[in-house]
Amino acid sequence: MDKYNSEWFDQDWLRFKFESLRRKDNFEPDAQKYQELLMRANLDGARDFNLKVSEAMVETDSLAAMVMGEKPSRFYFRFGAKVLDALAERLVLAEAGYLLDEGINPMDHLDAVFFPSGMGAIYTLTEFMAESIDDLDRARLRVKLADEGVDERPLFVQGNVVYVNTNNVLGERMRNKVIAPSIKVDTTDLMKVGKVLKQLGDRCFGLYFEPLTNPDIRYTNTKSMALLGSSYQIPVIVDNTFLTPYLQQPFRMGADVVIHSLTKYGNGFGDMLAGAIIGPKALISAIKLWQYDSGNVTQSPDSAIKLYDRISDMPSRMDTQAGNAKAIANYLKGSEYVDKVHYPDLEDETRGGLAGAVISFILAGQTLEERTAKERALMQYNIDHPGVINHEVSLGDNVNLMIGENTLGFPNVDSNAGFVRFAVGRTPDAEKTIKFLEKALTEVYK
Ligand SMILES: Cc1ncc(COP(=O)(O)O)c(C=O)c1O
Repeated sequence: MDKYNSEWFDQDWLRFKFESLRRKDNFEPDAQKYQELLMRANLDGARDFNLKVSEAMVETDSLAAMVMGEKPSRFYFRFGAKVLDALAERLVLAEAGYLLDEGINPMDHLDAVFFPSGMGAIYTLTEFMAESIDDLDRARLRVKLADEGVDERPLFVQGNVVYVNTNNVLGERMRNKVIAPSIKVDTTDLMKVGKVLKQLGDRCFGLYFEPLTNPDIRYTNTKSMALLGSSYQIPVIVDNTFLTPYLQQPFRMGADVVIHSLTKYGNGFGDMLAGAIIGPKALISAIKLWQYDSGNVTQSPDSAIKLYDRISDMPSRMDTQAGNAKAIANYLKGSEYVDKVHYPDLEDETRGGLAGAVISFILAGQTLEERTAKERALMQYNIDHPGVINHEVSLGDNVNLMIGENTLGFPNVDSNAGFVRFAVGRTPDAEKTIKFLEKALTEVYK
């Protein structure tokens, strides 16, 4: 299959990945060192970013070289800017700064590109990969399907639970493309993944998953996926939104491409949409050329600067909110009103064994109807007692956000009865949130 991705998934990349990028630890164990990496002065050290969309050029005859990637692109924001390069460097250091220890500058091998949202990043990556199928192959694959009824179109293999819109992009949205809708497999079960990859042979185009599933917080080991990926020569693509590079770094574990919805923990204040792809330089350069045409770029220099500043606070924010989540999950595990809590202890897999800052739990009840009623009552309690837990989607925010999966107004979702997703914030602290939950649950079960 590597012929389809050969523009970037080549021998050079694989050699670098196996010889330098992979590590035994899943994250930088020294938190202080990690923090210092994020604070490193960017590029030439100055924070003198251009705040306008266009920038005065300092020499004639230079624009063409910028567009062709021969010089850093600085003339118009859609084509790049110093602040975007600085942001890219910060994110690459966040994911792979450990390479500096070996005297390797990660920016010589990796780069990052930014999007107006996480979905913008995911959609662009899949579109880009679909485009790498050349015209002859497209024609051959279409004829095979139409005339012989044989579907040999390449496809993604994806985790069976991924973010709902990612699911659409890899599946339904592929319907009319030369990529077939993805095959879903439980990536927590290695045997199943191995079996599917074996059956598909050359057809598998990429292995895509979230190490922690949204919303049921099940853990997939990226190292195992990467081993499978490399034995079938398939790029491994990891959405690292939930864990963040502070808690786990997929490149250390053998991933080829890392995706982020920076809307969440990258930004951390719930006031901006943003996304990124981090991967081999050749892939990112090619995607940047695409961006020139698609315009699917970071909206403005000030949102890029905001992200640049906020990403450096991610470690302390994650310490606080994942710490809060662990304490709250422990409380919920002991509550008589809760049947099941999804917040695994990840032991050595992540920093502090933390499973991020999202917990999901199932409220107690004899029947599906009773669970749904309790779920609705808890959501209503949050609505009626504002200030501690918002009845609100998203995650990564400063404040607590909670939704009940069965009480969002979608029909026929009974199997989720009583299923609550709780994106734990930083304020109020865990103690205050637990007190509020104790009171809320006592009220709901009165
Ligand atoms: C794991 C994950 N990936 C991607 C996305 C999409 O990100 P955005 O909302 O920034 O488009 C989300 C959104 O919730 C998500 O949870």
